[in-house]
Amino acid sequence: MPAAIPTKPDLLGYEGKTCVVTGAASGMGGATARILGELGAEVIGLDIQKIDGPIARSIQVNLMEEASIDAAVAEIPDSVDRLFNCAGLPGAPRFEALDTTLVNFVGLRHLTESLLPRIPSGGAVASITSVAGMGYTKNLEKLHELLATASFGEGKAWLEANSDVNNGYLFSKQAIIAYTYARAGELARREIRINCLSPAPTDTPMMPAFHDQISAEFMDEHFQAPVGRNATPEEMAEPLILLNSDASRFVSGHNLFVDYGYAAQTYMGQRPALL
Ligand SMILES: NC(=O)c1ccc[n+]([C@@H]2O[C@H](COP(=O)([O-])OP(=O)(O)OC[C@H]3O[C@@H](n4cnc5c(N)ncnc54)[C@H](O)[C@@H]3O)[C@@H](O)[C@H]2O)c1
Repeated sequence: MPAAIPTKPDLLGYEGKTCVVTGAASGMGGATARILGELGAEVIGLDIQKIDGPIARSIQVNLMEEASIDAAVAEIPDSVDRLFNCAGLPGAPRFEALDTTLVNFVGLRHLTESLLPRIPSGGAVASITSVAGMGYTKNLEKLHELLATASFGEGKAWLEANSDVNNGYLFSKQAIIAYTYARAGELARREIRINCLSPAPTDTPMMPAFHDQISAEFMDEHFQAPVGRNATPEEMAEPLILLNSDASRFVSGHNLFVDYGYAAQTYMGQRPALL
């Protein structure tokens, strides 16, 4: 009998894992949900839109509303191995600053905190923030104030009282980075990891909304990755999946730039730091 062919080690470790993916109807979240399914995960997709992809279960949720998040959480199984926060709004001019930060940060935090008690040791959370959040240190004092709010309602009230600080997209993405850093140490004691990923401009259905904000020419000249093209949704989904996988089991409290060197160039003064 021929010797058995050794099977490849499952480095990522998603086989049979329960993965919750927000924003699973479109773009990066859609790609993430699809690839996780191909890796053998049980994918539960959450989105305000209908999810067409081949996933185990889809739940409609509006991350702008606490009651809608609570209703979705009630439908999610008692044990969740990985959470992928991919949903988001692009901000002005299509969406108000308050609504944008409610979805991108306050709703994301409420969902994450609601699910954390269900995530066992070895589990992980990965959220999509943005290169647009890279200036978070400029707002640290205000971000600490927002992070100190204890609930969805308190977070919303803080945003309403600080509308001069909350400019929508940029502030919401800064808040995800600050939240990820702030939670990492405590969650490490439970052996749960938390990370985020900062994409450079990526060709998804969100891109036209960014072009309404700043022209396509300005976007390409000042924010595109130095490789000279936008990323594909899969070029974000795959590193996100890596970040939340067993292969990254000692990685926590990290903001992974997936930008082909854009942030590196700004840090080295090779291009203006506009963010
Ligand atoms: N496309 C880019 O260039 C880019 C760059 C940096 C960061 N990002 C971030 O990447 C993430 C994914 O965006 P994308 O580019 O794939 O865009 P997308 O518009 O294709 O996907 C966003 C998803 O979020 C969902 N969503 C929006 N509001 C919601 C709500 N209230 N409740 C529940 N779901 C809601 C949408 O229905 C959609 O499926 C977002 O957080 C976005 O801010 C995008």
